[in-house]
Amino acid sequence: MTIPPSFWDQRYAEEGLAYGVAANDFLAASARRIPPGPVLCLAEGEGRNALHLAALGHAVTAVDLSLVGLEKTQRRARERGLEIATIHADLAEFDIEEGAWAGIVAIFAHLPPAIRRRLHQQAVGGLRPGGAFVLEAYTADQLPHKTGGPPVRELLFGLEELREELAGLDLVHAEETVRHIEEGKYHHGTSAVVQVVGIKPA
Ligand SMILES: C[S@@+](CC[C@H](N)C(=O)[O-])C[C@H]1O[C@@H](n2cnc3c(N)ncnc32)[C@H](O)[C@@H]1O
Repeated sequence: MTIPPSFWDQRYAEEGLAYGVAANDFLAASARRIPPGPVLCLAEGEGRNALHLAALGHAVTAVDLSLVGLEKTQRRARERGLEIATIHADLAEFDIEEGAWAGIVAIFAHLPPAIRRRLHQQAVGGLRPGGAFVLEAYTADQLPHKTGGPPVRELLFGLEELREELAGLDLVHAEETVRHIEEGKYHHGTSAVVQVVGIKPA
């Protein structure tokens, strides 16, 4: 199942910020693992994680299917005196440049399995030696919680899939957990998530 871009454009056209002002908790806690250098944020939406990383000094590129989300990212960056490069693209067709990135970030990027597998394999190739891949996403255990994420089993995944898709990275953090999330009006409450930090060996 592919969600049409209009779904996300409509969501981001609403008043306020769908996922809150602040960066995702796990990204904020894991940002120190990303060495200095350029960072690619996948499915970045309204830019909360990109803004956090740009404020830490990274040159950030944000990719998303939603032009409305990317325009909000640019507006928020201007307001804060930060620069973020944005790319309007469908990740089903997006190619990650080989060996280019100090960090690649995927926060709640829920894609159909074939697209996700290809993207994660490209992310491994896209990191520089020592670079870090940071991911948080909902697992299948999230379905009964109804506190965020797609209500579609196919779009949810866990560590079993990630260990396979991220082969080639050292997973210095790899956990499925249940935590309380308060990130905007669409992510709030008890949530079942998977978290990964993977480092590309030198
Ligand atoms: C739950 S939001 C997360 C946004 C952001 N990562 C965050 O944490 O605030 C999911 C994002 O995935 C994007 N997305 C979904 N399918 C996509 C695709 N095929 N290509 C690019 N972006 C996609 C949506 O536009 C949306 O911004």
